[in-house]
Amino acid sequence: NTEQRVEELLAKMTLEEKVGQLNFVVGDLFNTGPTVRTSESDIFNEAIRKGEITGIFNIHGAAYTGKLQKIAVEQSRLGIPLLIGADVIHGFKTVFPIPLGEAASWDLAAIEKGARVAAKESAASGISLTFAPMADVARDARWGRTAEGAGEDPYLVSLVTAARVKGFQGNDLSDPLTIAACVKHFVAYGAAEAGRDYNTVDISEYELRNTYLPPFKAALDAGSATLMTSFNELNGIPATANTKVMRDILRDEWGFKGVVISDWQNIQEMIAHGYAQDNAHAGELAIKAGTDMDMMAEIYLKELPRLVKSGKVEQKYLDDAVRRVLWLKFKLGLFDNPYLYSNTKTEKKQVRSKEHLQAAFEMAQRSIVLLKNEKNLLPLSTTKAKKIAVIGPLADNKEDMNGTWSFFGEAQHPVTFLEGIKKYAKGAEVTYAQGCELYSDSKAKFDEAVAAARKADVVIMAIGESAVMNGEGASRADITLPGVQMELVKAIHATGKPIIALVSSGRALELTWLDENVPAVLATWSLGSEAGNAAASVLFGEYNPSGKLPVSFPRAVGQLPLYYNHKHTGRPYEGNHSEPGSERVYKSRYRDVPNTALYPFGYGLSYTTFKYDNLKVDNNKLVPGGQLQVSVDVTNTGKHAGEEVIQLYTRDLVGSITRPVKELKKFQKLAFKPGERKTVTFTLTPEDLAFWRADLTYGTEPGDFKVFVGPNSRDVQETSFMLLKDSSM
Ligand code: IFM
Repeated sequence: NTEQRVEELLAKMTLEEKVGQLNFVVGDLFNTGPTVRTSESDIFNEAIRKGEITGIFNIHGAAYTGKLQKIAVEQSRLGIPLLIGADVIHGFKTVFPIPLGEAASWDLAAIEKGARVAAKESAASGISLTFAPMADVARDARWGRTAEGAGEDPYLVSLVTAARVKGFQGNDLSDPLTIAACVKHFVAYGAAEAGRDYNTVDISEYELRNTYLPPFKAALDAGSATLMTSFNELNGIPATANTKVMRDILRDEWGFKGVVISDWQNIQEMIAHGYAQDNAHAGELAIKAGTDMDMMAEIYLKELPRLVKSGKVEQKYLDDAVRRVLWLKFKLGLFDNPYLYSNTKTEKKQVRSKEHLQAAFEMAQRSIVLLKNEKNLLPLSTTKAKKIAVIGPLADNKEDMNGTWSFFGEAQHPVTFLEGIKKYAKGAEVTYAQGCELYSDSKAKFDEAVAAARKADVVIMAIGESAVMNGEGASRADITLPGVQMELVKAIHATGKPIIALVSSGRALELTWLDENVPAVLATWSLGSEAGNAAASVLFGEYNPSGKLPVSFPRAVGQLPLYYNHKHTGRPYEGNHSEPGSERVYKSRYRDVPNTALYPFGYGLSYTTFKYDNLKVDNNKLVPGGQLQVSVDVTNTGKHAGEEVIQLYTRDLVGSITRPVKELKKFQKLAFKPGERKTVTFTLTPEDLAFWRADLTYGTEPGDFKVFVGPNSRDVQETSFMLLKDSSM
């Protein structure tokens, strides 16, 4: 069995070979750009021979990875195969929408399928481990890494994260078409102060347990084989050495047996944090906290032998870390067949297959969120819109379609919006003008764009962020449209032509002016390989948009962090900021903008309309061990078939710690024919209402609850029930 094989191998290893198994290094991808492959260099060969490397990440290619494995198994003393890791975040060469976009689909089966496609392509290309999914709850749109997660709600993030783990790993890690997942970044990375990447996190244990930990637990329950520590400090202690979360919670409370990987050099960064004195001290702190693998700091490689020999670090810490790494390699099937993931024939068959591109197309369609559609401007019909002007810096821009973290998806591949629109706008005349660059201040191309708009019946504007404006290290203090894009929109608006805005971004943007002035607005994130086809299929009505926002879109950056499931405060204010009356003055509010989101969490329109009525609970009392049914009638009152995400929220009115004003507890995404009515039923149990209570135990508290059902977190119907008795879980 695996444990025995691990022990036998461990017994043969020298101290140096052991630390080698904890040393994870990057390929030269970052130096070579999107067409890569000078990384088929020899720079790692000697270190592999000496057993100084456990694996290499962000390289790929069946032939190349096979060559490296051959050195490891044939030329190193113990023949231990290499792990090949990679940031396979939203697809591999077939690129899917960025994770935030995928989350907007609220379609867990499609998300799981997307991760499966990514696994198939990357596994065939030699990769056995992905640094995904990201389980960080993100409530501050300034934070660039919002793009890589599933938004602001712990329940939605948990379900999406678990779906991704299942998609990557399948049921069998040693299947040549699955890869190990690495849930990241542990933990509370998304709570960085002021939304600035890598910044300090100081939150209560309640907040940690009720908001930030659940998606990680969900990922581990779904089987994630590995986990990555985060860059931030948490309540004064860098996550990588934070024994409270790393040992007490992760290992002891949750029983996680898999591999913990540091993030890039974050063992060493503990010196900059002011927590470790030097490299040796940093290594000691990290290994003792249970960080098994050192990504890129080479501190374990250089410092651990001495630390173990001197007795500063007990041998058992090292051995346990090595055990876990070997266990992973056995589970991946690498010892039985080191070339399992490096098969050139499979690689050819899998990468960018027709079936995978179709899956990316469907996922992109489902990710698009219709934010505004005045007077049913959409869907477009070419009988009315005979002349279409496509304008904007993202309109014919291949480079930015793939979005953040997609360096395997070559830039020449994605279908641009312009290409997609030309394909779908049969019989119409389509003209194009860039209008401006993504960031520059120059308005030199405005005139040409305005002239194109003047000749058109309708203008489609593709605007927003470039791929590098979100993701790691890409926090923004100003979350409006970059450069002179807003001015371009205003110039086109002045022509009086109807505008449809395709807004691409990796975060919620401030779109107040657009909302007030432009008749149709769609959130198009970064949609990946099939971006243009998917957007055009929505614009021309082949697909009726069904996405719902996984993050709240603010009215102004000053509202951030902004999330629907906030606390009530002692002086709540839900009115309009400009209402007269002195009673509003000493309320929790701003003088200049309402507290509410411009587009709330869960929001998204359709070409059809849905009516909600008859919300009921079958019993107004819930007892421990019991359940109650919440039902609502939903009718498609419009002319188009469409899908709707029916959302259920609760509010626990009084708690031993104060509770959020609303919490998403359930949702269903259902298809409706025109005129169709369905009674939608949700089952609620006490487990759904549990939380970390004042005494830091997990369970429910008796009392009154409100239950809300609706098409988003704002426009809900409401009823209530009572929970009798508490229960601990
Ligand atoms: O996986 C990533 C992580 O999310 C951020 N730092 C670098 C890692 C490896 O590329």
